[in-house]
Amino acid sequence: LRHRGPGSVKRQRALAASWESNADAWTTAVRSGAIPSRAAGTDAAIVAAVRRQMPDAGPVLDVGCGEGWLVRALRGHGYDASGVDGSPRLIDRACELGGADFRVATYEQLTATPALAGGPYASIVLNFALLGDEIHPLLGALATRLTLDGNLTIQTVHPWIASGDARYEDGWRTETFGAFGSVFPSPMPWYFRTLGTWMRDIDAAGLVVTRLEEPLDAETGRPLSLLLACARS
Ligand SMILES: C[S@@+](CC[C@H](N)C(=O)[O-])C[C@H]1O[C@@H](n2cnc3c(N)ncnc32)[C@H](O)[C@@H]1O
Repeated sequence: LRHRGPGSVKRQRALAASWESNADAWTTAVRSGAIPSRAAGTDAAIVAAVRRQMPDAGPVLDVGCGEGWLVRALRGHGYDASGVDGSPRLIDRACELGGADFRVATYEQLTATPALAGGPYASIVLNFALLGDEIHPLLGALATRLTLDGNLTIQTVHPWIASGDARYEDGWRTETFGAFGSVFPSPMPWYFRTLGTWMRDIDAAGLVVTRLEEPLDAETGRPLSLLLACARS
């Protein structure tokens, strides 16, 4: 299993800080439907994944919930959904629309004190929210907040698509949000991992993948994302 390399702590800090500084631009992008892959299918895919695993309404926690769209969507389907995020500004933006419990908690805090997450939950979701290099400690902590037959669902960028022309190997990359013009003040460091590394990190967290999905873009036929439904192993 990989250990944090040089520069990891600095990048993790820059990653968290970028969300605080980009919070308003991100909220506008999400709420105005400006992210094409979301409208093309990733929003629908994560909601459908939760509904499939948990047909009866129950407690759901959205970790790295951002401005809270998924919590609101799941509540619209009758789930008792709540959200946590490390960015106080994003949690403010989530609270301004209200309707659910939104709390500030960083992944580092949730890892050190899993009870902060609350629960037990029938479902925990992480929608494009695992962006750092070392994820198995957080996932392991969250696994302890699941009911015995609970599910944890991850949606992330598809490694084949996200790799682009770069080498298909784990490593830090930078998102400049250039597709949105110059409205995002801070670039975001994020950690690219191959499909094999996703599987190893999930295994190291004491979870097992029960279903792997690759939602496709109907127009291009290319994957929009990678969806991994996990259970306690
Ligand atoms: C791409 S956004 C996704 C937000 C939301 N899940 C959605 O689907 O719109 C990534 C989120 O992860 C959160 N995040 C990243 N690193 C974090 C950390 N170390 N602790 C807590 N939240 C973190 C950010 O604040 C941000 O809200």
